[in-house]
Amino acid sequence: MRRAKISIIGAGNVGATTAHWCAAAELGDVVLLDIPATEGMPAGKALDLFQASPIMGFDAALTGTTNWADTAGSDVVVVTAGIARKPGMSRDDLLSTNAKIVGDVAAHVRDSSPQAIVIVVSNPLDAMVQRTFHVTGFPAARVIGQAGILDTARYRSFLAMELGVSVEDIAAMLLGGHGDTMVPIPSCTSVGGIPVTQLISQDKLDAIVTRARNGGAEIVGLLKTGSAYYAPAAATAQMVEAVVRDKKRLVPCAAYCDKEYGVGGYFVGVPVILGSGGVEKIIELSLLPDERAALDKSIAAVKDLVAAMNRLVA
Ligand code: NAI
Ligand code: 2OP
Repeated sequence: MRRAKISIIGAGNVGATTAHWCAAAELGDVVLLDIPATEGMPAGKALDLFQASPIMGFDAALTGTTNWADTAGSDVVVVTAGIARKPGMSRDDLLSTNAKIVGDVAAHVRDSSPQAIVIVVSNPLDAMVQRTFHVTGFPAARVIGQAGILDTARYRSFLAMELGVSVEDIAAMLLGGHGDTMVPIPSCTSVGGIPVTQLISQDKLDAIVTRARNGGAEIVGLLKTGSAYYAPAAATAQMVEAVVRDKKRLVPCAAYCDKEYGVGGYFVGVPVILGSGGVEKIIELSLLPDERAALDKSIAAVKDLVAAMNRLVA
């Protein structure tokens, strides 16, 4: 049986760590691509990771390159190319720089891997996935943004820390944009099957939600030199696995919503079924009035972000 071909664009922290998780789980053969200015960096990382395989016991071909031809015919393309926000940089600086980078990457993906499922990670996520959709012209089901699995993992981790239980026993669902405007759904949060509201006070739950919303900034504050990459890469690898193994995972992802949740043609974090076809179904939850209001606020923020991007790239 042919192994899946997984190309990861951007061989920085998130890209290289995603390559690591994907190779270690034998999800397929991995190509790591970065810009020519990085010279041997992607090849060096790929070779180093391949040399770990006899020790750790995984089989995966690993290629590091600056040549798009090496990515041709990929089944899955992960886009991590771009810059992370640094002190002194405005939101528009990040938006404008990454919109150009991601637009260029998306054009290459369209030409090199026209049948691929594209998983976008670059920030600002909700705008970058829209840009990828626009430039590739791929069907909406084949363009997906990674944010919800990471945000939910942060929320689940903080709940496990607070309750003193295994992270394995915490199930949760979040909707909306990445980070700041994410919308937790308490009725979809349970601990070993018990609704979370029976185990924790509202004040503590609110504090955990706030910490999860600011989860990315908390890591930046600690690292000082960049942003999170282990958990983002693990979240991305889980999406790759769902696609290449046709797992039909029910997970939160940034998916194209038109009539769904009344969004009107934008990528918003929603529960989806993820399989070999990409987003195979969007699950519409019935929301309480305050959850609906929070989701509407998040959708409005995504629309503002996309409008700002469109002005910058026009
Ligand atoms: P990084 O700086 O370590 O790596 C980015 C890489 O992209 C660099 O090696 C750079 O040379 C490369 N690159 C730039 N332009 C390129 C192009 N045109 N083609 C190919 N490669 C190109 O950054 P890191 O930490 O890996 O983060 C990458 C992106 O992911 C950032 O925008 C960051 O904000 C975002 N991110 C998103 C998360 C999410 O949950 N959606 C979580 C964590 C990071
Ligand atoms: C994060 O949430 C920076 O989006 C990135 O860690």
